[in-house]
Amino acid sequence: MQGKVIVITGATSGIGQVAAERLAGMGARLVLVARSEVRGRAVLARLRERAPGVLHSIHYADLSRLVEIKRAATEIAAAERRIDILINNAGALFASRRVTEDGLERTFATNHMAYVVLTHELRERLIASAPARVVNTASNAHKGARLDFDDLQSAHGYRGFKVYRRSKLCNILYTRELARRWAGTGVTVNCFHPGFVATSFAEQSGGLFSHIVRMAKTFAISPEEGAETIVYLASSPEVAHVSGRYFYKCRPITPSKEALDDAAAERLWLESTRLGSLGISDE
Ligand SMILES: NC(=O)c1ccc[n+]([C@@H]2O[C@H](COP(=O)([O-])OP(=O)(O)OC[C@H]3O[C@@H](n4cnc5c(N)ncnc54)[C@H](OP(=O)(O)O)[C@@H]3O)[C@@H](O)[C@H]2O)c1
Repeated sequence: MQGKVIVITGATSGIGQVAAERLAGMGARLVLVARSEVRGRAVLARLRERAPGVLHSIHYADLSRLVEIKRAATEIAAAERRIDILINNAGALFASRRVTEDGLERTFATNHMAYVVLTHELRERLIASAPARVVNTASNAHKGARLDFDDLQSAHGYRGFKVYRRSKLCNILYTRELARRWAGTGVTVNCFHPGFVATSFAEQSGGLFSHIVRMAKTFAISPEEGAETIVYLASSPEVAHVSGRYFYKCRPITPSKEALDDAAAERLWLESTRLGSLGISDE
């Protein structure tokens, strides 16, 4: 990983933070995208301890807001001549429904649209840096979820976990569609389930769910174990030519039937590019 440039979201906590530290320890230069200056600076300091002399950097953005994602991506593209790996990892679960200033339900915005928009905005750098990789954090929580294209913003019957599961189904559908569209560019696209991990995930979600998650974490694996598949997908030569797959414990596995629905993947792509005003439906 010596000299590789890795852009990563959600590295101020949990599995993203562990993965960033490990990848820095392997010689990569990390470019973080984070919303909190305090947490961002703390992680940057730890990365500098891990790899003194490497110019790790940070760009600030609230990834639930399209304008901030696009601004951070423009800053990154201007600062970085090459991007070898993009890791879309930031995610959240919310007990109550809220709509962002873009008119998007905030789980869908943060967990799905941020992946789509950041990847789109950095695509020229990634393709020019090929062989390159995109790694998307998904979840086994997608199992049992179905997309409702008439209500992608979950205006009806909002339940935090149900909407979170749908967003993780979106991660797998998006990964498969992007891999299909980018075939032949030299950029691979894969996603993974980290396992049930004892991070601060969902603790701030509010409602009963945050209590249940806190109690259930007694049975969860450590963030170090949870980060293994990110590090593997970002760095292993074994997956240099693998694209469009869903991994768990560093092995490709089969996601749900809904996640393998090619028509849904294409429809989600078209809807997402329209919602993000990306104008790439012919890509
Ligand atoms: N934990 C699990 O059991 C589990 C299982 C399956 C999948 N996952 C997935 O793993 C990923 C990482 O979660 P984790 O478990 O490591 O949780 P975590 O410790 O809560 O970390 C979440 C990260 O996402 C960032 N983030 C959230 N909303 C953001 C926003 N609007 N703008 C910018 N950054 C934002 C957080 O930043 P702040 O520090 O600013 O909050 C934090 O760095 C998520 O995609 C999650 O869906 C987790």
